[in-house]
Order: sequence, then structure tokens, then C-alpha cells
Amino acid sequence: MSKQAVRRSFDRAATSYDAAATLQRQVCHLLLGTLDATAPARILDAGCGTGHALGLLARRWPQARIAAADFAPAMVAAAGGGRIPGICADIESLPFADASFDLYWSNLSFQWCDAGRGIGEAARVLAPGGLLAVSSLAPGTLAELDSAFAGTDRHRHVLALPPADDLAAACVDFGLTAVRLIHQTLRIHHRELRSLLRELKALGANQLLGPRRPGLMGRQTWQTVEQRYEAMRETAGLPATFEVVLCLATKPTS
Ligand SMILES: C[S@@+](CC[C@H](N)C(=O)[O-])C[C@H]1O[C@@H](n2cnc3c(N)ncnc32)[C@H](O)[C@@H]1O
Repeated sequence: MSKQAVRRSFDRAATSYDAAATLQRQVCHLLLGTLDATAPARILDAGCGTGHALGLLARRWPQARIAAADFAPAMVAAAGGGRIPGICADIESLPFADASFDLYWSNLSFQWCDAGRGIGEAARVLAPGGLLAVSSLAPGTLAELDSAFAGTDRHRHVLALPPADDLAAACVDFGLTAVRLIHQTLRIHHRELRSLLRELKALGANQLLGPRRPGLMGRQTWQTVEQRYEAMRETAGLPATFEVVLCLATKPTS
């Protein structure tokens, strides 16, 4: 996966993201629900996108100083429309001093990063006693699309996501404790395959479909994929599964 391509996709999606981000909002609320009532004085939203979580975090902890970072400039600009200014930065290399935050928050950005580098940076910028709350996507995400594409050509059409355990292992490697993984399977439905693909593009998540995207394939292949997906139709529509993982951990005080 090319980091440049991921950044470009999110940059282009900054104006369409909010209208398409139903699942992202759902996961955001799940993640918020896992946090106990500590009162973090300094919070970082890493991979803040358009800044939806910033308002929620500020309402939950009105006294906290909140910072936001994202590597897509247009996302940072969108997030900056609120009260909290964003910084254009890579989660894998954060421009913050060691021990700068009491809560490191990241909703659905880690699937685009190297888990080791991302968690390493999170552990570095967390102060002793600080809490890490990260959500990501695990293998099995878009499984229906993967199986509809299977064998149509020699390419993979759904990105191979790293196992959720990589996040927990990275937390342990970087000295975080009380590591907890919570798995949740979420499913959305679409009226047709094209609307699922349009939504992924509107979210900037079209890189989940890998470098050979559906628009580039032949008519015959497309028809095969559509027919296979149609065979999976449920009463609510065409299903798309998202395997969500929430990762919680603490930086020890000594
Ligand atoms: C699915 S969106 C989630 C946005 C937001 N956290 C939310 O809950 O709506 C993923 C975000 O992560 C950002 N992102 C992905 N990889 C990143 C990286 N390496 N460094 C900083 N931001 C990154 C993208 O630009 C995008 O805004």
C-alpha cells in the first residue's frame, strides 16, 4: 500500500467524508464507550479526519487541552473549522515531545499505518499513567467483496489487513500494559455494489480496494463480480462486513 496514495485519497475525500461516515461514527462511539472516567488533561486525536471526535472528546472532558493530527492537509483544514486547530503530521512520526498527552485517541486510522511504528509513537508521546484508545480494521473486512472478486484475475482486490493481534503485540513491545483487544463485527447494507464502491471513495477508503480498482477492470469481470455479490443479497440489501478492533492500553507510571 502506498502511503502517498492513501494520503491523496483522504485529501480528496475531505468534503465528502462526513456524509458517508456512518460506520466511522458508530466505531467512534464504541471507542468512547470503552473509556472509563479518568480526566485526561491533554488529549491527542491521531488521524483526526474532519474532526468529528474532537467535539465529543471536548464535551466529555471540558477541561482537557486537545490536539489533533492528520497527514491529509484537507482533513486538517476541515477539522480546523472547529475550536481545535489541527496539525498536519504522520501518526508514524509525530511532532510532539515525549510524554505530551494523557489520552492518545485514534479512530479508524491505524489500518492505514504500520502498527509497530504507530504504537511506538503513541507510547512515546503518552505520559506515564496515560491511556491509549485505538480502533482499527481487521482481516475479514469487506469479505463479501473479496469473495466476489476471488479468481476473476490474478490480482487481489481487497487489501490484506494485518491481524488485530499485531496491535496488542506492538503495545507490549513498547512497554504498554493492561492491553485489551475488543472485537466487534459491524455490517452495513447497500442497495447495489456501485453504491458501496462510491461510499468507499467518498470516505477516501478506496485504497482498501488495492491498486487495481473496479473502474479499471473489463466489462465481463465486472459483471461476474456483480452477479456473485448479488447472490449474497439479504433482506436489508447487499452486505458489507467490517471487522472492527478496539485496542486499549496504559502507559505504566514507572
Ligand atoms: C477513516 S478516517 C478516520 C477519521 C477520524 N478519525 C474519524 O473517526 O472520522 C482515517 C483518517 O486517518 C488519516 N490517516 C491515515 N494514515 C495516517 C497517517 N499515517 N498519519 C496521519 N493520519 C493518517 C487519514 O488522512 C484519515 O483522515
